[in-house]
Amino acid sequence: MNKKPYEIGDEIRPWSVFIPPETGDEVRKTLESKWINTGKQEGLLREEFKKKFSIPYCVATNSGTSSLRAALATLGVGPGDEVVSTPYTFIATNTSILEQGAKPVFADINYETLNIDPKSIIKKITKKTKAIMCVHYGGNACNMDEIRKIGRDYNLPIIEDSAHAIGSKYKDDYIGAKGDIITFSLQVVKIITCGDGGLITTPNKTYYNKLKKFVWYGVDRENKKTTLIDPLPEKIDVLGYKFNMNDITATIGRVGLKHVDEPLTKRKRIGELYRREFANLKKIKLVHYPKENTPNYQIFPIHVQGRMKFAKFMRENSIFININNRRNDRYSIFGGLKNLPDLERADQDTILIPIHFDLTDENVNKIIETIKKYDKQ
Ligand SMILES: Cc1ncc(COP(=O)(O)O)c(C=O)c1O
Repeated sequence: MNKKPYEIGDEIRPWSVFIPPETGDEVRKTLESKWINTGKQEGLLREEFKKKFSIPYCVATNSGTSSLRAALATLGVGPGDEVVSTPYTFIATNTSILEQGAKPVFADINYETLNIDPKSIIKKITKKTKAIMCVHYGGNACNMDEIRKIGRDYNLPIIEDSAHAIGSKYKDDYIGAKGDIITFSLQVVKIITCGDGGLITTPNKTYYNKLKKFVWYGVDRENKKTTLIDPLPEKIDVLGYKFNMNDITATIGRVGLKHVDEPLTKRKRIGELYRREFANLKKIKLVHYPKENTPNYQIFPIHVQGRMKFAKFMRENSIFININNRRNDRYSIFGGLKNLPDLERADQDTILIPIHFDLTDENVNKIIETIKKYDKQ
């Protein structure tokens, strides 16, 4: 059979791409309007995102990585500074710190949740620390009460890399509604995607005004004072980037956002089913989901004994799985391996099982049965 690169056969894939059917028509309308640069669509996406998740201020960008860089720049993170961060994440969390000329200092994680361990954050704070970076891994929120207390005690702002956490809640609040600066990704496998894109939220107006400038050459596009012949304002006093989101991208994002309850509901159903079905297995241990969290199940990590054997067994049964992230300190760009015991354990036994919008009931049952078969071996 001549399969196209994306064509899916009988195998169960670890991910899918959620694009509601009317996306193409909406993009055509935007193209035909000929306004494809940052404009009305981008503004509407921000307004709708704010409304949906009770968010005070929102900026749109061209990726989650750009969102992180603009957040770091807004907090003044630069050469000579340190950011206490999690080493268990996609590398973008930490390459963005390097790109700003600063150094990520890795705290340990909590093996049970895979999130940064607040006690370890405290141990890593030095005079050079400028900010704390945490990731709500798999959409399962970090212990924000403790991390925010550390932020207050040490007078350090917190960036929440929420690339995994659109629609997740911590206590009564959606991720993004509270905190200092919260960044999101709209990359292909995220719950809302527009190919590549990002959002940044904050309840802090001062941060908001700075963020707007960092995403477009140091200029606040909405409030720029220009003259008849000069499209740029008289004064530019911040070195900003070209991180803005265009209207084609925003149009795709708006359709995804309009439908976001569909993937959220489906993931919740599958995630809760997995948690019930795998609660008492021998070789498989679930990640801990604290009671106060409402996870979005962007991914479903588990701890498994004999990880490679498990991966082979799943593949033999046409279920594709992968480990998603490795401990970031294994990459020499971050300065070498650190002694972080919980990270060490998690890096050796964590793997993701498929959870996404395109899974059928039959797929989900097969995944559950196959995992139980492995457990009994
Ligand atoms: C935790 C985390 N942070 C940041 C990013 C970067 O997002 P983007 O690919 O939109 O730049 C990702 C991407 O998957 C991620 O998983």
